[in-house]
Order: sequence, then structure tokens, then C-alpha cells
Amino acid sequence: MSPNLLGAQEPSHKANPSTLSLRCLKGCIGAEVQDIHLGASLPEGAFAWLRDALDRQGLLLFRGQSLSPDELIEFSRKFGPLQEVAQKHYQMAGKPEIYIIGNAQEGGQRVADKSVGRLWHSDQSFIQCPAMGSLLYGFQCPAEGADTLFANMFMAYDALPEETKQRIEGLHAVHSFARYYELLRERDPSQPPLTPERRVAYPDVVHPLVRKHPRTGRKALYINPAYATRIVELDEPESRALLDALFEFQVRDDFVYRHKWQDGDVLFWQNVGLNHKGTAFDEARYTRRMHRTTVAALPDDYARSLLEPEGRLAS
Ligand code: OGA
Ligand code: MN
Repeated sequence: MSPNLLGAQEPSHKANPSTLSLRCLKGCIGAEVQDIHLGASLPEGAFAWLRDALDRQGLLLFRGQSLSPDELIEFSRKFGPLQEVAQKHYQMAGKPEIYIIGNAQEGGQRVADKSVGRLWHSDQSFIQCPAMGSLLYGFQCPAEGADTLFANMFMAYDALPEETKQRIEGLHAVHSFARYYELLRERDPSQPPLTPERRVAYPDVVHPLVRKHPRTGRKALYINPAYATRIVELDEPESRALLDALFEFQVRDDFVYRHKWQDGDVLFWQNVGLNHKGTAFDEARYTRRMHRTTVAALPDDYARSLLEPEGRLAS
């Protein structure tokens, strides 16, 4: 195994004597978990092992999977309660825990969301307590295009110049679902307008620019161009300039892993530490179909991810 830049080696849990092992993806931005079938009934120790691996690596890849919707839900639930996504249009009928992603059609109707995540983002950064992480299972993947990019925000933070680290500690950004939704509809006018109910359900929120991983304590940049609109403590030109500089810096090549999907891949990423983005594909030629689940954060995860006591965030 190449040296692990996240400081992780094999997870330390001894409870799982199975044959699970990790192989670093490019630059150890994430890792592939080998020799595992997620639909099988795994020993309880395997989940602690996987959780530890996710905490350290940020992104886990499982290849060669074949999972029914119920099996994906059951596996995902082992890591915490599941959440529904903010977009309701393409939830699976009868199983709202699953969001259907891609350009698949049935009976002339689109049954999947093809506009998901085309800007760099961290899932749900527009809510006060964003989900811990997401799982994405690709079972019909275009032969070219539709890659998903992941940028490691721990590595990006570590690589910042010392004076930038000092400047941004204590700063907060506004994250806005409504503004993102406007951008989305500009790109894809077939998206239905944001309903007044959802505008009320997802008011703008504020998060620090730097958060700690709630369990490992490692610091990560926590901003993204999809949702972060401005820095609270700075005037507009200064805020714009700093955001743009950070957005550019944090997706430098050495922090980014490009995932080329194969049918049967499952990716599991955490949201503190990994930004990600989907890319285009030839939609006339290929069908893409994927199932997404979202694992909620534990109640005190957000508080434990703050550098300062929680009270400081009150606005
Ligand atoms: C997501 C997401 C990108 C993609 O599921 O949260 O951003 O490539 N997906 O489908
Ligand atoms: Mn996403």
C-alpha cells in the first residue's frame, strides 16, 4: 500500500477478524475496500472497521456489488439513521431513503435526477446539521463521461499557507440552498421551480470555514462553490476574493481523485473532508442509473466538528 496521506493504515478494530483490506486510491484521497459483499450479512465488527476506515480515508470504494434497494438501505443504516434529500422529485416510490440519479426514463418519463451535483459541493452544507455522508451505487454506468470527482478538504487545509490558515480560522460562510437552486435551474430549465414550502424549509445557514472531523479531530476546509455565497465577517469584495481563491486552491490536482464508474461500484463518502462533483456525459448515447442513500450525522457530531464552542455560532 502506498503511504497513506490521511495518516490511516488498516483500521485498528480487532473485532473483525475477516479478510477485509484497504487499497489506496490515487494519492490516498480515498481507499478501495476489497473482498467484501455489502449485501451479505456481515459480522458486526465489520461495520466498526468500515466506520473507522471511512473516518480516516473520507472516501471508500466497493467494486463488484449487486444490491437490491432494500440491501442498500440496510447496509447504509448500519452507519446511522437515513435521511431524505432536499429534492423530492426522484425518490424511489415507497422507499424515500433512496434517491435515483441519472438520466433513465420509463414510459417516456424521466425517473432519475440528471442534474445532481454538477458544481463542487459538500452534500447538505445548506442545512445546519449536514448529513454525515452519502452512498452512491452505480449499476448502469456510461462507458465514458459521468465521472465523479472528489477533492480532499483535509489535504487542502493542510496545504494552505500558515497565514491563510490564521486568517480563515474564526470566519464563517453563508450556505444557501435557494441560491443553488437558481443556479441549477439556469443550467437545467426542466427542473421544477423551488416551491415556497421548500424555500421556507431550507433557509440560509452559516458554517465555519474550517471544521474538524468529529472523531479524528483532523481539520478540513468546509466551503464549496455550490452553496457558500459569502463570508459573514468580510465585506462583499473581500469575501468574494477570498472565496474564489479558496475555491480554486482546494481543487488543485493533488487533492482530487476522479472516479470512473464501473457497473457495481458503491462509493461511500463523508461530508466533512470531501467535496465532490459530477461531470457530463453523452446523454443521447448512454443511460446512467444510480441509487443514493444519505446517512445523518449523530446529534453531537456538528458540535464536535467546531473549533470553537458551539455557542459562538449563534447568529
Ligand atoms: C451525489 C452527487 C454526483 C454524481 O450523489 O451527491 O453529487 O456524479 N453525485 O452523480
Ligand atoms: Mn453530492
